[in-house]
Amino acid sequence: MGRLWHFLKVTLIAVVTTLVVIVAVLGVWAYAQLQPKDVTAGRAKWDVNMSLEAADAAALDLVSQMTLDEKIAQMHGEGFSRMMLSMVLNQTAAAVYAGDNERLGIPPLGFTDGPRGVICGRSTAFPVSMARAATWDTELEGRVGDVIGKEARAQGANYWGGLCINLVRHPSMGRAEETYGEDPWLMGEMAVAVLEGVQRHNVMACAKHFALNSQETARFKNDVQIDERTLREVYLPQFKKVVEHDVGSFMSAYNKVRGEWCGENRHLLTTILREDWGFPGFVTSDWYWGVYDGAKGVHAGLDIEMPAPKHYGDNLKELVEDGTVPEAEIDESVRRIVRTKLRFLTREDPMEYPVELAAAPEHTALAREVAEKGMVLLKNDGPLLPLDKAATKTIAVVGHLADAENTGDRGSSNVNPPYRTSALKGIRDYLGAGANVLHADGSDMAEVTRVAESADVVVIVAGSRHDEVGEYVVADLGEEDIEGMPSADGAGRLRPDGPEEKGSIVFRFPGQDEPIVMAGGDRVPLSLKGRDVTVIDTATKANDRCVVALVGGSVFTMEEWKDEVPAILMAWYFGMEGGNALARVLFGDVNPSGKMPLTTPRSESELPFFDEFADTSEYGPYHGYTLMDKEGHEPTFPFGHGLSYTAWAYDNLVVGTPKVRPDGRLDVTVDVTNTGDRAGEEVVQLYIGFEDSKVERPVKLLRAFDKVALEPGETKTVPLSVEVKDLAWYNPDAGAWEIEPMVYSVLVGPSSRTEDLLTAPFTVE
Ligand code: BGC
Repeated sequence: MGRLWHFLKVTLIAVVTTLVVIVAVLGVWAYAQLQPKDVTAGRAKWDVNMSLEAADAAALDLVSQMTLDEKIAQMHGEGFSRMMLSMVLNQTAAAVYAGDNERLGIPPLGFTDGPRGVICGRSTAFPVSMARAATWDTELEGRVGDVIGKEARAQGANYWGGLCINLVRHPSMGRAEETYGEDPWLMGEMAVAVLEGVQRHNVMACAKHFALNSQETARFKNDVQIDERTLREVYLPQFKKVVEHDVGSFMSAYNKVRGEWCGENRHLLTTILREDWGFPGFVTSDWYWGVYDGAKGVHAGLDIEMPAPKHYGDNLKELVEDGTVPEAEIDESVRRIVRTKLRFLTREDPMEYPVELAAAPEHTALAREVAEKGMVLLKNDGPLLPLDKAATKTIAVVGHLADAENTGDRGSSNVNPPYRTSALKGIRDYLGAGANVLHADGSDMAEVTRVAESADVVVIVAGSRHDEVGEYVVADLGEEDIEGMPSADGAGRLRPDGPEEKGSIVFRFPGQDEPIVMAGGDRVPLSLKGRDVTVIDTATKANDRCVVALVGGSVFTMEEWKDEVPAILMAWYFGMEGGNALARVLFGDVNPSGKMPLTTPRSESELPFFDEFADTSEYGPYHGYTLMDKEGHEPTFPFGHGLSYTAWAYDNLVVGTPKVRPDGRLDVTVDVTNTGDRAGEEVVQLYIGFEDSKVERPVKLLRAFDKVALEPGETKTVPLSVEVKDLAWYNPDAGAWEIEPMVYSVLVGPSSRTEDLLTAPFTVE
């Protein structure tokens, strides 16, 4: 008995000790994994502020000292385990590293996603890019970029994948929220603003997804057909612009363009990007399924495979060794990677980056300011808004999103702030004890009626969620868990039976055995879900003072309910401070000044053809306002539309340069007056008309804008200019941009609606 007891004791001690050791080893491993790498490693070795030429010379020299293994190590990410571990242990992402080489003093890339902030750690969650586009405020977007740059560095990153500048060809686009809208000019201006802010902190910005990644559900298979002129004039100008403003990097797209995967597309990655635009930086793949053939990728000009070496690892080494891939092509890629890293590494940091910077109070205050300035007052009959705080004794806040912490997609762009403020919380905190705030979540219509009847005013919060649109993936699930769910093979999804049926769909990615459940994708149809429309119908029957606050990242068609409500506010996915911002806009502490970066169509039939499950799609020259103009459609709300609590008058459009040379600049001024009784800000928009053109052109195109602040009764003469080179069209036969000498018109006003615009002619000689 005694022996047995002794044996059990010894065994128990051995088992416990082993477990303790395993846990300790795992703990040490996890701890080590989670430590950020030093993205400034090797800095001391180099001259300060290396020019491109100096960095290039140093890179050439380094390449000559590298073994093939060292070269290939520069060309792929170090894998996902750090990120996954952080997700499990910290419920937030960590930077993914690539290509450090201590021996040669080359720092790693430390990648973090965006665009609504920094996805690592507990960082500031800004409103989504679409909300920021609605500010039309490049100075403000520059400040957002500045904070993102600081927080990226504070989280151990030096590479920000948040410059998502795919055009919203159709508002169903699943990741519309991550971009700046339908217009390449507005998109390019906002992109430059944020990138300059980010790169000020020596964080490389990554422009993505190059190119034509304008739909989500079919992104792994869609083969976009497009003519060269449309490609250059409509879909790429914003990418070209960020190259002109020294963007560090590009990311290729998952889809195909004219039959070639974007990651293997030499026309995009080399002919256009390097040869035509002179981009000196490097290109990374979109993740996991961005490249299918290593040799083709390298030859096309794809420099780094992220986040791990599927095709750019030992298999690439073999391709070099057997002569399939010329080593000279590898050398070129590594040269581009290393010279870019050195340029950014050797710039002096303007400050230090302690982790406490993440979500610092001044950063979250900026998140609120942006949310306030991005909200768009679409409609305001009465006017019902702003609400009178003193007179509001009881307010009802209703709908399934009223109390939701709903800041947008939970795919790659998911920022995890320390807190989020729902609409209900924001309104409650704003009103304090002075008012009775009622809430109904919209699941019980009798309750909606009850609270709406007893309130002075009703705020209905409606819109979309992360599990309905975007890049959100639920998990890798076992076969038994997915039984009965609609499924699709690597080629795409099955069509669900009806719009309300659309939910999680099992998706088998190319090259992956485990099925993944995707809940996002494109948003089809564009209307609000039935649950929201029923709440609107119910609340408006009970109370005629109803405001609809729309939450989402793109537009909603609303002809079916728009006339039932006096006021509609596009609040967007409004970031961590959004509820507070919403309250301040509703009660008039902030006068709304946002304008729509998208056209709100009356019906989807007015939009370009969109097949969520497309194998192939045709992207033509017209969409958004250019299509509305061409077809003569009157949208529900035009591109550039947005009301204010004050009123504006435009007068006296003066063309200072009635005749300009092709290398010259058009200068105009316009008088804008605040004719109301509140201070406010107005976005002044300038479009160019091409009536006399010999080639087919849009009716008009946005070419300048400015945001001005005016006191009641004040008039400002607002100057606006356009470089004549920006009026060129791309002649595919000549392979060149051409400026037509002819009479153009300049149109200036508060939106893209022709009737709202003052117009005058000018001539390019
Ligand atoms: C997305 C990219 C993102 C990357 C890394 C991809 O699936 O398309 O936008 O940067 O994942 O998270």
